[in-house]
Amino acid sequence: MAERIDPIGAIRKITSNNSSRSKKNKTGGRNAGQEESRKHSTPAGKVLFDKPGNFLYPVPCVMVSCASPGKKPNIITVAWTGTICSDPPMLSISVRQERYSYEMIKESGEFVVNLTNRRLARAADFCGCRSGRDIDKFEECHLTPEPCAHIAAPMIRESPVSLECKVTGIIPLGSHDMFLAEIVGVQVDRRFLDHNGTFHMENAGLIAYSHGKYYELGKILGSFGYSVRKKR
Ligand SMILES: Cc1cc2nc3c(=O)[nH]c(=O)nc-3n(C[C@H](O)[C@H](O)[C@H](O)COP(=O)(O)O)c2cc1C
Repeated sequence: MAERIDPIGAIRKITSNNSSRSKKNKTGGRNAGQEESRKHSTPAGKVLFDKPGNFLYPVPCVMVSCASPGKKPNIITVAWTGTICSDPPMLSISVRQERYSYEMIKESGEFVVNLTNRRLARAADFCGCRSGRDIDKFEECHLTPEPCAHIAAPMIRESPVSLECKVTGIIPLGSHDMFLAEIVGVQVDRRFLDHNGTFHMENAGLIAYSHGKYYELGKILGSFGYSVRKKR
């Protein structure tokens, strides 16, 4: 059995027959190894993969900035992230222990989730492929570390939305440890505020990550509750 590790981290065991295949599969994504596992047809007319894996897409693709004493501030790209509570506002990020950022986040107990848009897509990919052990990612990507209001870690000035987070717990899960965190500050780019002060997320050009590829969000199909709203 050969082991292959994708950039995000699900370890897949591939039979030795398959291990000589190229790292990219037919769909082109390094994160799409499921196609390489054996498949079975089901009565539902679907195909059941031999080995279950991460198929929950799309997901956000965020740039997490962090800092700890004696080190340059760093950025790690994270797709395994999500909202987990409304009150208090909380989110999680799952990070592999071997990431340079892991200790920085653990030691400082803080990080910033910076949402990404079309303009940040390349930088997000870069920060997910290079380590802060070797380079200064803020400098390489021409990004600006800006002080936060509530925590010592810097946010990324060029991001449309930055969420200042304080770690409240760490759950070891396997390949990744999940950092649970409370959102203690939200900073948004004023260009997306209208004259009433309402923030228009739809104008921020946010991107999503799905099965190894980056997408810019597109057409609006409806708004919350539109299926049950009475027509005027
Ligand atoms: C789109 C994308 C999503 C990623 N998501 C995660 C993630 O959720 N958790 C993780 O530990 N690594 C993830 N990675 C990999 C890290 O970002 C990558 O290993 C990075 O180089 C770590 O940087 P560091 O060593 O400076 O901390 C992702 C990479 C990419 C390109």
